[in-house]
Amino acid sequence: MSEVLYSANELEKVVADLAKAIAADFPDRQLLLLGLLKGCQPFLADLSRQLSRYQLDLAIDYLQVSSYIGTASCGRVTIKPVTVDESFCRQRHVLVVDDIFDTGLTLKEVMAWLKEKGAASVKSCVLLRKSGCSDEVLTPDYWGAIIPDAFVVGYGLDYNEQYRELPYIKILGADEQ
Ligand code: XMP
Repeated sequence: MSEVLYSANELEKVVADLAKAIAADFPDRQLLLLGLLKGCQPFLADLSRQLSRYQLDLAIDYLQVSSYIGTASCGRVTIKPVTVDESFCRQRHVLVVDDIFDTGLTLKEVMAWLKEKGAASVKSCVLLRKSGCSDEVLTPDYWGAIIPDAFVVGYGLDYNEQYRELPYIKILGADEQ
């Protein structure tokens, strides 16, 4: 059996609150939202719509990033830009948008990669943060909610490409793996 952690209505409120906090922190109003595929998709779409209330100068791009196979991290992060021109982030204020923060390895690698490519500033925003995750690697600048240290799916998060379409987030049941 699986347990719903965040309903669609609850997620809407979490994302609206995040957008409000982000908008207040970018006074020059220019921001490149950089989603990490594929898990960022519903979150990035909803976050950008919420941010549109605040008249920011927004651009959206993506990186294809992976480190998980099944429910386990393979400990190695691969990064592929979706935009062919790798100077897309040069001199830009970048907000990296990811679904979930676990060990922090993914964000650490992506943020270092962006700085190397010449981004003017790099901040990070995750929808979920697992409880008990260490601050040693890094701390995300924004997070929507803290969840138990369990494997979760839905709202973009998958188990071997399944469950991304769910409008809510639930803990993956042992009988669903
Ligand atoms: P790290 O450990 O690098 O992990 O912070 C972040 C990435 O790992 C994936 N991840 C999950 N995916 N349910 C998922 O569907 C989970 O509970 C989970 N925990 C980590 C995810 O791709 C994230 O970008």
